[in-house]
Amino acid sequence: MSDILLEVENFSGAFRGETGDLAPVLHGVSYALETGLMTAVVGESGSGKSLTALSILGIQPPAFERTGGRILFRGHDLCGFDERALRRVRGAEISMVFQDARAALNPVFTVGRQLADVWQLQHGGSRKAAMGQAIEALRRVSIPEPERRARQYPHEYSGGMAQRAMIAMAALVCAPSLLILDEPTTGLDVTIQSDIMELIVELSRTRGLTTCLITHDLGVVVETCQNVVVMNAGRVVESGSAEAIFTRPRDAYTQRLLASSVLVEAA
Ligand SMILES: Nc1ncnc2c1ncn2[C@@H]1O[C@H](COP(=O)(O)OP(=O)(O)OP(=O)(O)O)[C@@H](O)[C@H]1O
Ligand SMILES: [Mg+2]
Repeated sequence: MSDILLEVENFSGAFRGETGDLAPVLHGVSYALETGLMTAVVGESGSGKSLTALSILGIQPPAFERTGGRILFRGHDLCGFDERALRRVRGAEISMVFQDARAALNPVFTVGRQLADVWQLQHGGSRKAAMGQAIEALRRVSIPEPERRARQYPHEYSGGMAQRAMIAMAALVCAPSLLILDEPTTGLDVTIQSDIMELIVELSRTRGLTTCLITHDLGVVVETCQNVVVMNAGRVVESGSAEAIFTRPRDAYTQRLLASSVLVEAA
């Protein structure tokens, strides 16, 4: 018996153009994230992966409008939450790592301060204790010399280091039950990519996180995810266990996606 933490149910949405017309982009998207497992959301560029994830957190672009469906988190429809209720969910329950970590960090504050601020917001306690937790989180994601690094600004971090800091923020400082990662390794060197993925898998396991990994990299999916959701043009075309989808893809689009990736050799 699987236990579902979050369920996107027949979710549809459109962008409101300048002339007021609606251009539909999500067409009845449905997928479920099983508690404690890693689920990959894959699909070509523009298929609606990010937009669906942003909708889970209620942080879609302003021109986006939901036209139908629900997003159930622990059985409660997040689409019915007001901003105040959503703010209680964000970070504490569901957190997200964005593609460009350095852009997600605030350039005018040190990394340690940003982590400490979020810690204090979520858990309270003294300033000093929060900074201690921030440094611990940096240490936990293998940032060397975390005390010194905490005093640095985002521009002093490499791309891989900034991504580690964001993962520390999203997975450790926030301590969520659901972690969403949107292309967390895109733009990083290949060796750093695999280090970061190892870190994500390790944190997910040790903290019992439910993880949703949005990625183009099917090789990463094979190694890390138990479940897979395949999206194409604003629809889910196939979903199920990674094993079933990689060995017996039913949908023509999934078959093409697999054939176009390096995975063919591995499968
Ligand atoms: N701010 C926006 N205004 C208008 N259309 C948008 C906006 N953001 C996204 N879209 C459209 O919504 C659709 C889904 O976009 P989304 O960003 O979810 O795709 P994606 O699957 O995450 O793609 P990628 O792999 O490139 O990140 C696309 O057709 C895109 O052009
Ligand atoms: Mg995207």
